[in-house]
Amino acid sequence: MKTALILLVVTLSLSYVFGQKDPHFADGRNTIVHLFEWHWDDIANECENYLGPKGYAGVQVSPPSENTVIGNRPWWERYQPISYALTTRSGDENSFANMVQRCNNAGVRIYVDAVFNQMSATSGGGTAGNSADVGNLQYPAVPFGPGDFHSRCEVNNYQDPNNIRNCWLVGLPDLDQSSEYVRGKIVDYLNHLVDLGVTGFRVDAAKHMWPADLQAIYGSVKDVSVGGRPFYFQEVIDMGGEAVKKTEYNSFGTVLEFKFGTELGNAFQGNNPIHYLKNWGPEWGLLDGSDAVAFIDNHDNQRHGSGAILTYKNPKPYKMAIAFMLAHPYGTTRIMSSFYFDDADAGPPGYGPGFNDDGSCTNGWVCEHRWRQISNMVGFRNAVAGTQISNWWDNGDQQIAFGRGDKGFIAFTLNGDINQNLQTSLPAGTYCDIISGNLENGSCTGKSVNVDGSGQASINLSNGDEDGMVAIHVNAKL
Ligand SMILES: *[C@@H]1O[C@H](CO)[C@@H](O)[C@H](O)[C@H]1NC(C)=O
Ligand SMILES: *[C@@H]1O[C@H](CO)[C@@H](O)[C@H](O)[C@H]1NC(C)=O
Repeated sequence: MKTALILLVVTLSLSYVFGQKDPHFADGRNTIVHLFEWHWDDIANECENYLGPKGYAGVQVSPPSENTVIGNRPWWERYQPISYALTTRSGDENSFANMVQRCNNAGVRIYVDAVFNQMSATSGGGTAGNSADVGNLQYPAVPFGPGDFHSRCEVNNYQDPNNIRNCWLVGLPDLDQSSEYVRGKIVDYLNHLVDLGVTGFRVDAAKHMWPADLQAIYGSVKDVSVGGRPFYFQEVIDMGGEAVKKTEYNSFGTVLEFKFGTELGNAFQGNNPIHYLKNWGPEWGLLDGSDAVAFIDNHDNQRHGSGAILTYKNPKPYKMAIAFMLAHPYGTTRIMSSFYFDDADAGPPGYGPGFNDDGSCTNGWVCEHRWRQISNMVGFRNAVAGTQISNWWDNGDQQIAFGRGDKGFIAFTLNGDINQNLQTSLPAGTYCDIISGNLENGSCTGKSVNVDGSGQASINLSNGDEDGMVAIHVNAKL
C-alpha cells in the first residue's frame, strides 16, 4: 500500500514535470514563430489568414507586461518591466485576450515571452500609465520595493553561479525569486495569462535565476486551457565553459538550445563540411531533442551574435540551415520573424505589416515565416511527423540528402551540382519541389522530381540555383 502510494506520487510528479516540456501543439502542426514586436491585432489576423492555413503550431509574442517608455523606443525597452499590467505598444489587455482566442480557434497556440528575472533600470512612466522610481526600487503598481530585490552587484563573472544568479544583469534590478512574496506576484502574472488562454512561456534570462526557484514558480502555475501543464522554454545560453549549465534546467522544462544555431550556422556558411551532420543531435553536445527548443537565430543574436549566427541578412545559407532544422526530427522548432534593422537598438516600424500580392510583407517587416522555402518546410515537417531519418546519402563533403521514412526526402549542396539518382523510400510518382515552387491547382510552379518504382529519385540541384536544396513530400505529390 505504502509502496503503491509512493509509486503513484512519483508517477504523478514525473508526468507533472514532463508535461512542462509538451508544447501542446494541435494535431498535424509544428513550429513556433516568434512574431517579434508585432501588434496583437496583427498577430490575430496572421493566425487566421496565414499561420493556421500553413500548418504553423504557435506564436511567441513579445513581452505583454508594462515596460518603461524609453527615449527613442528601442526594442529592448520591452525587457524593462515596471508592472504586470497588460498594456504595451503591442496593444492592451482586450486586444491581447482577443488575439489569444482567435489564434487558439485557428489551431495556433500563444506563448508569452515572460520577463521576471528583473525590473526596469529606467525610472519614469510606463506603457500602461504606471511609473517606477528605480533609485528607491519602487514599482508601486505591482507593488515591489527594496526588500524584493537582491542587493546591487553586477553580473560580471560567468564562472560564479552566485554572481550570475544574484547580481544585476546589465544593471537591471534583480528580483529575489526565493521570496514567497515575489514568487506569488510572478505566479499571479503567469496565471492571469493562462486564464486568457496562453499555452506556455519563453522564460527570459532563466540562466540568471536559480533552478529551484523556477521549478517552484512553474509548479505553482495552473493548467492551461488546452489541457495539461504550461509549456516552458527557458533562455539558458550555454555554449560550454561557464558555471551555469543547461542541464540544470531541463528536468522541469525545455531549454532554448543555443548550440543548435551556432553549429548549423557555421556548417551552412561552409566552415564545417555538412556531411558531418549525419549524427546531428546529442553527439554534437546538444540536449536531447525532447528537452530542447531548436532555432537558427533569435532577436538578440541576430543583432549581437557571433559570425556563426545566420539571419535574414544572409538568405541563401539561412534558408538552408532552416530547411535542415525543419527536415530533421530533432527538437521543438522555432522560426524568427524580424523587422529590418541597421541600428541594433532600433525599435519596430511604426506601422504593422501590409502584404504584397506574392504574400511578402511591407512596412519594414521581413516576415521570414512567409518566405516560401520556410513556410513550405513547415508543411514538410507536418507531412513527415512520426518518421525517423532514412536513406542518408552524402558525397563525403558538402552534399547531403536524407529521407523521412516513406513521407519525404531532401537534398542539399553547398558546393558542386547534384545530377544523380538517390535512393528514397517514397512511393513512385512525380513530386513538386516545395523549395523552388508550390503545388497549386494540381500543378507545380517550381521543379518537379520523379521517383521511380524502386524509390530512386532523379535529383537535379545546381550550386548556382537560388536555393541550395530540393525537398519533396507525400502531401505535395502531383
Ligand atoms: C538530372 O539527373 C539525372 C540523374 O538522376 C541525370 O541523368 C540528368 O542528366 C540530370 N539532368 C541534368 C539537366 O543535368
Ligand atoms: C490556381 O487557381 C486560382 C483560382 O482559380 C488562381 O487564382 C491561381 O492563379 C491559380 N494558380 C496557378 C499557379 O495557376
